[in-house]
Amino acid sequence: MPFTIAIDGPAASGKGTIARALAERFGFHHLDTGLLYRAVGAMGGDPIAAAQALSADDLARPDLRSAEAGQAASRVATIPEVRAALVDFQRRFAARAPGAILDGRDIGTVICPQAAVKLFVVAADLTRARRRAAELGTDVEEMLAQLRERDSRDAARTTAPLRPAEDAVTLDTTAMSIEDAAAAAVRIVQSRLS
Ligand code: DC
Repeated sequence: MPFTIAIDGPAASGKGTIARALAERFGFHHLDTGLLYRAVGAMGGDPIAAAQALSADDLARPDLRSAEAGQAASRVATIPEVRAALVDFQRRFAARAPGAILDGRDIGTVICPQAAVKLFVVAADLTRARRRAAELGTDVEEMLAQLRERDSRDAARTTAPLRPAEDAVTLDTTAMSIEDAAAAAVRIVQSRLS
């Protein structure tokens, strides 16, 4: 049985960094599922048709990292048919041997409810805004407003809203360095592997 790790949490909580560190440490495949929604949002036109036609090549566009692409992603992610069109791709990825790590908003709750490890990564709003503003070279206040808007949309939608699975371990990275957060996640995974 391949080993699946589900990592969910709001924007800039540290989940992507943790997922990459775990992938490197354990030699598992990693999928940033936010990229799927970002790619659909960036394609323009009918988002349902875009989601149905999405291929792995579409995830390589460099412009998908921008704050605008994040907002567009959050909007198309509220459409149930868009989410449904992306389920198979994610589940197939999750089944890759020897293991796979998926990070997003609904991995532990909807995409991989059977995952061996589920992490819900959180951090204070201002900390997240500072991190993302530093990454993208933008204003902290503006980033804070954008993150809050995106998080409330992601948590309020009816289909697959952002929330922790009942059996998820919550990791608060507010006061942690990247190294500390990664080390904490490695310990949690190791305890499940043994
Ligand atoms: O992780 P991210 O910031 O790249 O995600 C961008 C948007 O995509 C996010 O605001 C909501 C949506 N998303 C989602 O609804 N479900 C996922 N599993 C991943 C992302």
